[in-house]
Amino acid sequence: MELELKNATLRAGDKLKVEVIILEDAERFQIDLGCEANDLALHFNPRFHDEADGKVIVCNSKCEGCWGDEQRETHNPFHKGSKVKVTVKVMKEGFEVELPEGQEILFPDRRGLDTLTYVRIKGHIKLTSFKIC
Ligand code: GAL
Repeated sequence: MELELKNATLRAGDKLKVEVIILEDAERFQIDLGCEANDLALHFNPRFHDEADGKVIVCNSKCEGCWGDEQRETHNPFHKGSKVKVTVKVMKEGFEVELPEGQEILFPDRRGLDTLTYVRIKGHIKLTSFKIC
């Protein structure tokens, strides 16, 4: 599935909350925040069969179409076939992503975008709830 919002308004203090069901045969899914598809402050990308790390969460940023340096978290608490909540908290200094089992991932703001207008949820999931608050 893919959901793309091009006129969102997310600023420091706001939260994006999603609930998804991860498909049984999932390879990956992603949550992207930025100002357009080629300019992302956060690419949050759980993978189940990564070539290097197998089950891993990859975070990155994208600037004018070019990926930055990946931040990899090898503790990936997502399970195929399960329903999970993910909350992304937008802060001045970066993002705090709340995962299942109380895990948190921090990713620094590399882009300095004041307002995030672009949101994309994509991958081998079913989106059951989506909220910006
Ligand atoms: C690439 C992948 C992209 C994105 C990026 C993150 O290898 O094709 O979809 O996940 O890594 O660094």
